[in-house]
Amino acid sequence: MTAEPLEIYLEERDLERGLRDDVRAGLSAGQKWLPPKWFYDARGSELFEEITRLPEYYPTRAERAVLAERAPDIAALTGAKTLIELGSGSSEKTRLLLDALTGQGGLGTFVPLDVSVSALRGSTAQIAADYPGLRVRGIVGDFTRQLDRLPTGGRRLVVFLGGTIGNLLPAERAGFLTAMRAALEAGDWLLLGTDLVKDPSVIVPAYDDAAGVTAEFNRNVLRVINRELGADFDPEAFAHVALWDPDHEWIEMRLRATRPMRVRVLGMTVDFAAGEDLRTEVSAKFRPEGIAAELATAGFDTTDFWTDPGGLFGVTLARAR
Ligand code: AVJ
Repeated sequence: MTAEPLEIYLEERDLERGLRDDVRAGLSAGQKWLPPKWFYDARGSELFEEITRLPEYYPTRAERAVLAERAPDIAALTGAKTLIELGSGSSEKTRLLLDALTGQGGLGTFVPLDVSVSALRGSTAQIAADYPGLRVRGIVGDFTRQLDRLPTGGRRLVVFLGGTIGNLLPAERAGFLTAMRAALEAGDWLLLGTDLVKDPSVIVPAYDDAAGVTAEFNRNVLRVINRELGADFDPEAFAHVALWDPDHEWIEMRLRATRPMRVRVLGMTVDFAAGEDLRTEVSAKFRPEGIAAELATAGFDTTDFWTDPGGLFGVTLARAR
């Protein structure tokens, strides 16, 4: 089957307004910050794909190992008729689930949701071509905002992979899980990928690789803001920093001003002192009991928790209560 036309709930102008609001709020704060979702223009998405192939960046390989081993169990346990993927990107790992769910015979519809039209066009066309008989409905949307647009009915399995939930701050995370539960019916399923707490000597290099790809990915957000909002950041004058925070059990990416700088953006004048940091991402790492507790609070019962052989990455299967 060919993929159905993309359903667009997030227009270019919504994205622009979101970027403007975030830049205004984040760059006028005492401790400057930007949300990580603005990394992912076409170049940023390419750099992220490159990161997933780096020797230091274990999460993608570890998660793929779990899915490769457990996809048949996931298909048998859920018996899903509809597979919904949030923040689907290239949907590369999702094929393991599609293989198992279509092989088992019950899957009728695949619904990838992503903010990137270009990523969705590519992935929906490819998947529709490779899975004949599967209905493919791509949704352009923001997974923190468009959960009410998900298709209803059938036995649904929502997958949220890659550890992306760790990029939300704790309060945002709780809000997201609660909204997710509200969008589902009792008995629907959630499959959640989370990077796990481990020795920082393993985590830090994954976010500060020797080849400097993550540094380029980090600086890319400044290029996005220069292009979209006419700002005059000098990206090369910011150093990439990856910092493990043992209290929050998350890793932060920051951009550190290497000299005093004055940046003009949106009519604001933003001053950086030499050595001042702009926080661009948090990536929380989880413990199994913490994941189950957060899911329980949001109205999900955890039924299964799997890791790769190295115990690096966790995949949780939970059911809406
Ligand atoms: C895979 C999107 C969750 O936090 O590991 C990779 C993105 N940031 N290197 C992560 C990322 C820095 C990322 N997500």
